[in-house]
Amino acid sequence: MSVKYIPVQWNNNKYIYDAVMLLGVGLFLYVFLYAAPGLLSHERPINPQVHNARAFGACAFVMLSVILCIGPLARLDPRFLPLLYNRRHFGVMTVFVAITHAGYIIDWYFAFSSSNKYEALLFANTSYGQLAGFPFEIFGIFALFTLIVLAATSHDFWMKFLSPPVWKRIHYLIYPAYLSVVAHVSFGILQDQQNHTFTVIFIGGAAAVGVLHLMAALHERRVDQAIKADAVDWVPVCDVAQMREGFARIKLLANGERVAVYLNEGKLSAISNACAHQNGPLGEGRIINCLVTCPWHGFQYDVTSGRSPAPFTEMVPTYNLKTDGAMVLLDPRANPPGTFVEPVPAPGREAKL
Ligand code: HEM
Ligand code: FES
Repeated sequence: MSVKYIPVQWNNNKYIYDAVMLLGVGLFLYVFLYAAPGLLSHERPINPQVHNARAFGACAFVMLSVILCIGPLARLDPRFLPLLYNRRHFGVMTVFVAITHAGYIIDWYFAFSSSNKYEALLFANTSYGQLAGFPFEIFGIFALFTLIVLAATSHDFWMKFLSPPVWKRIHYLIYPAYLSVVAHVSFGILQDQQNHTFTVIFIGGAAAVGVLHLMAALHERRVDQAIKADAVDWVPVCDVAQMREGFARIKLLANGERVAVYLNEGKLSAISNACAHQNGPLGEGRIINCLVTCPWHGFQYDVTSGRSPAPFTEMVPTYNLKTDGAMVLLDPRANPPGTFVEPVPAPGREAKL
């Protein structure tokens, strides 16, 4: 919010998220390095440096694949939403793992070059015209450079400084970076793989990212089409029985706007689904004390007025609701941002005192 650049404080969820992530990385490295060293064996003779490099490279690849699966999973099933919450820490940790991988490679393959090892990395192999022996490291270098830029600009300060649209565009570079890692592995180590464990992890990871993105896009298109067929006047949202206390149902309007309709202490309120900070999905946040917290960076809004609590001044539009029997109906004409709307009692869902 606008007083300072720290809209999200550390909280227990974040500590747990980071601890689980660290544990996962530790476990992955332990299994690949010690418990099952044969998993990463290749045709070429292995030594500890290369063994470490392979384990860290495989770990960075798996982490990047998981990061890219979280978005579509959360769109397909809200139970995955908690994973979105601290995804940027996941990204930063991935960069450290990837840097360790590159460090081992550079220190092993290029440390004894007659020229500087970084120059050797770039110029030792220039066979770009052929598939066999293609300098696949170049794809790894591009990916690593991009990931470092994304991690370095992940803090909210940079979002404010660069402006949200520019920041968002820069962060879409995660996709070219991932494709580059896929090319790095496909042109590189996959060519001389003897043991197929890593090949299965690799193809499985890349396929999961592709298929989940396709499924999420098709899912959104189906929802959009169903909703576009709705009436122009009061539009039905859902049956009151389908609502969960403290959470929202998201309604897409014919004009493309999304509205978050909440059930809060037995009453219904609706605000725009787009956060004033960077259009984060407010309908995916949970209400506590009448305030919904944006899952992206933690801005908060009162669901009855669309206003951030003082001293913050952000506002989003509100919407009028009514009920017809158990059906919740929404007036698609938005109220000006910050307009208070009296919450509507939800039949059969009255709050227990
Ligand atoms: C400066 C950047 C990089 C360089 C120079 C580099 C170089 C290499 C080399 C030489 C290998 C083959 C190692 C061997 O002999 O077995 C390799 C494998 C690999 N790299 Fe990279 N890499 C870089 C960045 C990355 C990044 C950013 C990722 C992922 C996020 C990555 C993921 C992998 C994976 C998954 C393997 C295969 C590991 C295995 O065999 O199980 N690399 N890399
Ligand atoms: S807090 Fe950043 S988009 Fe909502």
